[in-house]
Amino acid sequence: MTEKPWQGRFSQPTDKFVEEFTASIAFDQRLYNYDIQGSMAHARMLAKQGIISEEDAEQITSGLQDILEEIDNGSFEFSVALEDIHMNIEARLIERIGPVGGKLHTARSRNDQVALDIRLYLRDEIRTLLGQLQRLGQALVEQAEAHLDVIMPGYTHLQTAQPILFAHHLLAYFEMFRRDRARLEDCLKRVDVLPLGAGALAGTTFPIDREFVARQLGFAEVSRNSLDSVSDRDFAIEFINACSVLMMHLSRFSEEIILWSSADFSFVELSDSFCTGSSIMPQKKNPDVPELIRGKTGRIYGNLINLLTLMKSLPLAYNKDMQEDKEPLFDTIDNVKGCLKIFADMIAGMKIRPERMRQAAARGFSTATDIADYLVRKGIPFRDAHEVVGKAVRYCIENAKDLPELSQEEYSSFSPDIEGDIYDYVTLEASVDARSATGGTATSAVKKEIERARQELLQWN
Ligand code: ARG
Repeated sequence: MTEKPWQGRFSQPTDKFVEEFTASIAFDQRLYNYDIQGSMAHARMLAKQGIISEEDAEQITSGLQDILEEIDNGSFEFSVALEDIHMNIEARLIERIGPVGGKLHTARSRNDQVALDIRLYLRDEIRTLLGQLQRLGQALVEQAEAHLDVIMPGYTHLQTAQPILFAHHLLAYFEMFRRDRARLEDCLKRVDVLPLGAGALAGTTFPIDREFVARQLGFAEVSRNSLDSVSDRDFAIEFINACSVLMMHLSRFSEEIILWSSADFSFVELSDSFCTGSSIMPQKKNPDVPELIRGKTGRIYGNLINLLTLMKSLPLAYNKDMQEDKEPLFDTIDNVKGCLKIFADMIAGMKIRPERMRQAAARGFSTATDIADYLVRKGIPFRDAHEVVGKAVRYCIENAKDLPELSQEEYSSFSPDIEGDIYDYVTLEASVDARSATGGTATSAVKKEIERARQELLQWN
């Protein structure tokens, strides 16, 4: 049965290609469960309000339940002629239970229906993402704790800057994911609003009870303006925006993992199951997973621009353009979920090479700032101290030496204030542990942050 619910006004059939061109069933069928939950809540409300009879509502909800099973078990036949998931399900309902099925759409329009479906769907997906972020946070904290004594070079401009704890570097990403989580949670508040009851655009003449529907579907609020309810997609834009920032973070981390796993760095080793080989170069082990995550970031940004541009200048209220909101939204969800899952697994299984990190940290005069700070504590203005240490570094470069290797005489030739105790300050451990104020890389400070992160993770579910 492919009679369109809106056929009445038309005397000619839809052009075949137009039918295909305007249909969304190929992609919006994934909303079926939400469409049915929404319809059941709507039918129960219609009965409670005396708009339809209790018997009608019962027939409708049990018919919908049967359709849900049909779709779940793959026996439902989707029809392009029926355009979208809403009309496919409604037509099947009428086919199964007869004309009473036609009462379901009382006091409702596809415009508020589709807005409802997307919100129900996105609400679930955001909760899934929040759980995935918790897993990723967990993996980070565990790696940080397991390698608390590992020192690596910290970089600025990708040049060796100062030694840091590897755990401190990992926790930098924990902070980013913490903010990503907060953004998603905040977005969830705007998603968690019931639009049903807006009708096509102006509300409905029937005595509906929107609060009742909201309670049944677990919505925190009902929307306050019918025009806005059917034409608002801010929540989807906000969501993709939050995902874009999250992907930006994953792309930065991916880039570092790609560098770290190269032969030149060899800071980490990715598990074989996360890499692929080369068809020509037998020695290769390529970090495909982080590369692909880095690459996918672009498509999520694309989805954001897609949706922003889709909504730009659209007059109120619903416009067919808005059917185009689904593919970028679905694509974002599918890809971000995939990235988060695989990223957490990759971090958890990453092998750390502490000796390589340490060697690199010892190169590049990474404790030069510590010598300058030492002089400052002896009363020398920082700028003068900087100059003194700069000369010492140049001397080291010219004589192929490293700062901790300089003799006491060499040190005092740069400044008489550098005494024998300097060797207590130029080791990697001393340099790291001296930075002990909140947020610094000292072991004591990082331990505190690991504890904080652990506490926070308990609330991330
Ligand atoms: N398939 C449509 C969409 O995705 C559902 C709403 C259609 N409403 C309408 N008046 N044509 O947006």
